[in-house]
Amino acid sequence: MDLSGKHYKAFIERQEALKKQYSPQQAEKQHSKGKLTAFERINLLFDAGSFEEIYTFVTPAAQPVEFGKVEKSFGDGVIVGHGKVNGRLVFAYAQDFTIMGGSLGIIHAKKIAKIQEMALKMGSPIIGLIDSGGARIQEGVASLSGYASIFHNIIQSSGIIPQISVIMGPAAGGAVYSPALTDFVFMTNHTSYMFVTGPNVVKEVLNEEVSSDQLGGAEVHARKSGVAHMIYDDEENTILALKKFLSYLPSNNVENPPVVGDDGAVPDVNPKLRDIIPDDPNKAYDVKEVIHQIVDKNSFFETSELFAANIVTGLARLKGKTIGVVANQPKVLAGVLDIDSSTKGARFIRFCDAFNIPLLTLEDVPGFLPGVDQEHSGIIRHGAKMLFAYSEATVPKITVILRKAYGGAFIVMNSKNLGGDFNFAWPTAEIAVMGPDGAVAILYRKELAGSKNPSELKKELVKKYRDKVANPFIADESGYIDEVIDPAVTRKKIISAFTALNNKWVKVPARKHGNMPL
Ligand code: HXC
Repeated sequence: MDLSGKHYKAFIERQEALKKQYSPQQAEKQHSKGKLTAFERINLLFDAGSFEEIYTFVTPAAQPVEFGKVEKSFGDGVIVGHGKVNGRLVFAYAQDFTIMGGSLGIIHAKKIAKIQEMALKMGSPIIGLIDSGGARIQEGVASLSGYASIFHNIIQSSGIIPQISVIMGPAAGGAVYSPALTDFVFMTNHTSYMFVTGPNVVKEVLNEEVSSDQLGGAEVHARKSGVAHMIYDDEENTILALKKFLSYLPSNNVENPPVVGDDGAVPDVNPKLRDIIPDDPNKAYDVKEVIHQIVDKNSFFETSELFAANIVTGLARLKGKTIGVVANQPKVLAGVLDIDSSTKGARFIRFCDAFNIPLLTLEDVPGFLPGVDQEHSGIIRHGAKMLFAYSEATVPKITVILRKAYGGAFIVMNSKNLGGDFNFAWPTAEIAVMGPDGAVAILYRKELAGSKNPSELKKELVKKYRDKVANPFIADESGYIDEVIDPAVTRKKIISAFTALNNKWVKVPARKHGNMPL
């Protein structure tokens, strides 16, 4: 090769120009806001030296009309490529806010679309590191169409490859819908925010003053809207958590999740499980203690921790194999099922089902939350999502009833006739149509009204109901559960049950798709 030739010189000049584009001053713009640059994020995510960028030198399209100015830049504000994360192939794109606010022009969009298509073709996860002002105003309808093709690609890949979004700055306008369509959304506290219309528009239209953080900060989306599944205090921890999360997932829907070693720190027969449920059936406890005494040590990775905390969801490992855990949380609202917990549970179940992750359900639920607000807001519609998700899931499904399993909630939480493969109950289980107080009030209304001492009579009847009805033995004798087990052997039983279900194969009737109540 002639290294002094014209093209070689141009090649070197372009490399130099690229270096200038990613100058220390440019980096400082990000650092001063507590943010990393797009490349720093990429370097944190990928195994050292494994990332290969493509389309480095593409330049923005010409804008259709003269309004504002499109900056001439290499890469058009987004870095795309592939590399290894924990040794496995992953595709990613990282938007660069220092170039036109990470806004999405048509070339920027085509780069993302290309990497999405490659990830799907290779059956590998795709990560979006988002830091963007949304559709590039100067490029008009072309940028809107760019978003449309990105959304279309996400939907085509949904349930085939894991798709994860990490919000690391603004995600405004169109930028919010790609995360919303992906499987999980990670956000960083105080430096990231998501909204369809920003504070300025809110001020103009509604005359309300609101900050970006109040409108769509990480905390708001993790606690209130449920849009963000995981939030962390800085970008480094956000990316490290994402890498850990990926280690639980298969690369695609035809692979199984990776298996890791188990140090045996949690014994298969574990007497500690006998002491978690309080003697008083109305007393709360933390179901996460139960989870930690069942799954491999330190393996529980909770998802949507702050949203609808009355249901706990997360990935964990059992003898090194990934499982999905869904557990009612008696510590929050008595573990009741309401609109948010139903939606949270259903979405998690569907994710696990799509990616061959067996489901473990730990049940202690007094029922659905009563009230005008819940009924008017559609608890019927949203509760139905849980039913649909559990019943539709074909992965191995095991339920352990720890305590309360009343009414519709018994049915919903992966009951046997809904398709549960193994359903166990602890001796503390209370399985019945409704709780003792409600049942006594309905069945003995007249007797209580005519009694000289109604509170004494009620106490007596409640005790009788607890002894005779609200226990696990009727369901055990009639085969509505598989077995009442000693809590100490729960881990052992679950491991053998999942082993027995290892080759579970379900033939689903041919159809376009079911009609899940949305
Ligand atoms: C072009 C944009 C841009 C955009 C930001 N910039 N957003 N350029 N199109 N959408 C540019 C700015 O002009 C500025 O350029 C640079 O990026 C940094 O922006 P600042 O405003 O200085 O930064 P900051 O104060 O941090 O505010 C960030 C921001 C704000 C909150 C994202 O820029 C903003 O509100 N942008 C518009 C957000 C929005 O409404 N997007 C919706 C687009 S419509 P200079 O040259 O000054 O550095 C859309 C529709 C799709 O997306 C709908 C699909 C469903």
